[in-house]
Amino acid sequence: MSRFWSDVVNRLTPYVPGEQPKLDNLVKLNTNENPYGPSPKVLEALKLEATESLRLYPDPNSDALKSAIAVTYQLNTSQVFVGNGSDEVLAHVFNALFKHQNPLLFPDISYSFYPVYCGLYDIHHQTIPLNSSFEINVEDYFQPNGGIIFPNPNAPTGIPLALAKIEQLLQKNTESVVVIDEAYVDFGTESAVGLINKYPNLLVTHTLSKARSLAGLRVGYALGHPDLIEALSRVKDSFNSYPIDRFASAGAIAAMQDVAYFEKTRHQVIATRNALVQDLTALNFAILPSGANFIFAKHQTKDGAVLTQALREKNIIVRHFKKPSRVSPYLRITIGTDAQSTLLINAMKQILNAT
Ligand SMILES: Cc1ncc(COP(=O)(O)O)c(C=O)c1O
Repeated sequence: MSRFWSDVVNRLTPYVPGEQPKLDNLVKLNTNENPYGPSPKVLEALKLEATESLRLYPDPNSDALKSAIAVTYQLNTSQVFVGNGSDEVLAHVFNALFKHQNPLLFPDISYSFYPVYCGLYDIHHQTIPLNSSFEINVEDYFQPNGGIIFPNPNAPTGIPLALAKIEQLLQKNTESVVVIDEAYVDFGTESAVGLINKYPNLLVTHTLSKARSLAGLRVGYALGHPDLIEALSRVKDSFNSYPIDRFASAGAIAAMQDVAYFEKTRHQVIATRNALVQDLTALNFAILPSGANFIFAKHQTKDGAVLTQALREKNIIVRHFKKPSRVSPYLRITIGTDAQSTLLINAMKQILNAT
């Protein structure tokens, strides 16, 4: 606190990212990163970018990257917006599209950055409780609103929502923007991108941090009607003209183009997830159905906080949410390699036998 702070800074409750401990031999299953490195073609593209051309600003419109993304989804470049991670894209979405008379709606258990953006931009919002199975009921969103946002699959539950349900929501809700945050969609959830040409109020956000293994490069994008994209560009050009630097552009283009590597690694993550679900179920965990690169798992008798701490003492970190209390029995476990799953299962067996 300082007398130099503005009112808005005094009121903020910033987002707290998962920790990035600087320890060797850590089994790091807490921030939903990809256990495999980025495509070798990305690393090659980054090397080629390290030239004296770095003295020049990058393209403020990121045309080459937008074009690589547009080709991937068979869209027009005017339907693509890119930003410094999907967190930045989302921040612009909140600022550009959600500040209205009626409240923005999102689930009570969801990505914890959403209420933070509402605080930053002073956006009136209302949370809609997930049902008792932690699912989104789209009917609960059939009410006046200034916008709707949720991740699909949801985070931290991992539960996917069927495309037919999203379409039902879009048919009922034509007067405000519906944003589907598809950060984890490539791990087994149906994407809403195919609905973009049908619904001018649908915006879909994606990241290269998860299935394309580039959390360190910071690239995300939004896909939607050109009017929605223009709103985001107007905010971006009033904030930072160059969110995508030369490395980010070169690496992201190579990642979008290496479809074979993307397919191979995402299927490997899905296979490891399915095996881990079986192994944890055998240890008396109940696991929510996951369409993501993480699972949300609750032991039938042991407390979530206690298990998280016990794993930590064995150099394995997973994420535990103390609030709201409905999720406090759960551990959110990122899917790592098969070898990391084995370490986790062996550690869990020891912990459960000892307590
Ligand atoms: C649901 C959801 N959306 C968006 C993001 C942001 O991803 P990034 O800023 O790395 O693109 C995350 C990150 O974990 C997430 O969980």
